[in-house]
Amino acid sequence: MTSVLERLRIKPLEWVEDRPEGPVFRWLDTRLIPWEEVYRETRDYRRVAKAIKDMEIRGAPAIGVAAAYGMALAAYYSEARSTGELLEKLEEARRVLASTRPTAYNLFWALDRVAKAAKRAEPRGVDAIVRAVIDEAKKIHVEDVETNIKLGRIGAKLVEDGDTILTHCNAGALATAGYGTAEGVMRAAVEEGKRIRVIATETRPLLQGARLTVWELVKEGIEVRLITDNMVGYVMYKGLVDKVIVGADRITLDGYVANKIGTYTIAVLANRHRVPFYVAAPSSTFDPKLEGDEIPIEERSPDEVRTVLGKLLITVPDVPVYNPAFDVTPPELVTAIITEYDILTPPYTKSIPEMLRRAGRL
Ligand code: MRU
Repeated sequence: MTSVLERLRIKPLEWVEDRPEGPVFRWLDTRLIPWEEVYRETRDYRRVAKAIKDMEIRGAPAIGVAAAYGMALAAYYSEARSTGELLEKLEEARRVLASTRPTAYNLFWALDRVAKAAKRAEPRGVDAIVRAVIDEAKKIHVEDVETNIKLGRIGAKLVEDGDTILTHCNAGALATAGYGTAEGVMRAAVEEGKRIRVIATETRPLLQGARLTVWELVKEGIEVRLITDNMVGYVMYKGLVDKVIVGADRITLDGYVANKIGTYTIAVLANRHRVPFYVAAPSSTFDPKLEGDEIPIEERSPDEVRTVLGKLLITVPDVPVYNPAFDVTPPELVTAIITEYDILTPPYTKSIPEMLRRAGRL
């Protein structure tokens, strides 16, 4: 493992190579946080797909890294004897992994990178493809941390000493390879010696704010206060919020931002109360092929809304439910987008394509 990964305080994802029976992919099951810290491991890419679908691993960048390691497992354990057979097996693994969560763009970005690495290695034979796929997955993993450290430092320029920052869902260590995007900005500001306070929304239905954001900020010693989602308007009206910083699952070429359901509501309220609304996301979250609000939005099981985490029924058993996991915030409500290259400001139709050209993605 390279040093940037060793230095992480929270390691939600790991590729473990020193096992006599062959490598395993290991992850922290975030469904059990904050009650238990349970690590799971597998040699089967289908189990990785299930972990993503069931949200043991969640958050767009973490999903991308996990999917890349899913491909690495598929390559290593394929038993394919020809390059054609191996590429076919990898295509099947890619299809299974891609069918897990439709909104998170990092998933498709990472699968595409790994598939291209495999194709490039094809002329050099089966073993070379296996090596290339594993190496590309490891690169995606390390780059995620490095990218978020850069993004954090750039974003920290927007944070002033004494700020109270409101965030939604979890865009932290547990949503990435270990540093975070929105929470990465907070970490970097604190590392610079700025005193900040965070207001975390609980984030119904799966409570990523209450369970994950609070857990990791408390672990880091960053002051955090928890509110329910419906308190955002009141806390802004009372002048208790200086800035909003959230992550993103997918951002279009013209600046529409898909993020956890409830983000749009917060952006509207921030606009009403003249609170800056910042999105922190690496270039891998930008979809260069989409414009406008055409982002596919995942709908999840009605039981997530009917119950509290499947444990307590809070309504009539069969009540019809609508459960979109994400919403889309239009660019006119986004003050700036923090990336590992720069702080992007409107007009996004200019600043986003410019950044993607720098990243070699357009
Ligand atoms: O459904 P989730 O928990 O995967 O949703 C996560 C979010 O909405 C995050 O804000 C987003 O993926 C950015 S994580 C750096």
